[in-house]
Amino acid sequence: MPALPRRSGPADALGGDSGPDGGRAEGGRAEGGDPRGPLPGVVPSPNAWHHPDAYALENAFVDVERRVDAAVREVADWTGLDVVDIGCGPGVMLPRLAGADPGPGEDAAAAARGAAASVVGVEPHPPLRERARALVAGLGPAGSRVSVVAGTAQDLPLPDASADVALARWAYFFGPGCEPGLAELDRVLRPGGVAVVVDTDASRSTFGGWFARARPWHDAAAVRRFWRRHGFAERSVDVRWSMPDRAALEAVVRIELPPALADEVLAGHPGTSLDDAVAVRWRRAGGGPAGGSPAAVGGSA
Ligand SMILES: C[S@@+](CC[C@H](N)C(=O)[O-])C[C@H]1O[C@@H](n2cnc3c(N)ncnc32)[C@H](O)[C@@H]1O
Repeated sequence: MPALPRRSGPADALGGDSGPDGGRAEGGRAEGGDPRGPLPGVVPSPNAWHHPDAYALENAFVDVERRVDAAVREVADWTGLDVVDIGCGPGVMLPRLAGADPGPGEDAAAAARGAAASVVGVEPHPPLRERARALVAGLGPAGSRVSVVAGTAQDLPLPDASADVALARWAYFFGPGCEPGLAELDRVLRPGGVAVVVDTDASRSTFGGWFARARPWHDAAAVRRFWRRHGFAERSVDVRWSMPDRAALEAVVRIELPPALADEVLAGHPGTSLDDAVAVRWRRAGGGPAGGSPAAVGGSA
């Protein structure tokens, strides 16, 4: 997930660049020897690019109740629909969208009933594309509904009006600067389709506070205004990290924060859990928010 990396785009406390716009590194380059060459407009994502194991831990344990998935489904139920997962990274959401990764308390049959008709994962970083493809290859029949393709949010490799739901989780859509991607959403969504953007809510929670300290240029209020101006509704979802052990919690914190800050916050935060807040923002193509209410899910709006 979560650029600064997962969590938010841009600039990376771990060695990326930063700037007043949030540190977004437009024009960055994808690594990994894509035969087409690096794709323009890629936002570096050091957590997912350089720390795949810790990133997998993060995805497995920072929202064990899958409250973010539930909020996304509430505003854009993808059952039987054509879905694009923009910046899919290693493919965390692909099995869930394909109905092959039951959530807590859900059985396999129920998950399968909630499957999308088709899922396209779009990912600019070749090694992550390969990871996502390997994951999909292991899904069995549900994998036949999923494809993983090279591309960026600003230049989606999809026909006009070909998707019902466009999801971007901690990928590219971090606020000001992502207007080219918004135009692509308008192009690829069918009338009535829903765009959903998921990112860290840096305005609250313990992790949100750490995140904001790591990114002093990040202006959560300005980001919120940006999304409102572009017609997105928002809800802020409480999530709880519940790590299997202390080493896992520390590993994840260290891919999200610069080393000195990570040392400091970890020294003052014992245990294996952490409260976090995630912003889920959505807009229906053709105008207006989709279903769901812009209230908080287990937290304040
Ligand atoms: C923090 S990861 C999130 C991955 C995945 N969505 C998840 O929730 O785990 C950010 C992803 O966005 C990808 N990315 C970077 N620039 C992008 C762009 N311009 N368009 C689409 N994806 C981009 C990165 O390569 C990386 O896979």
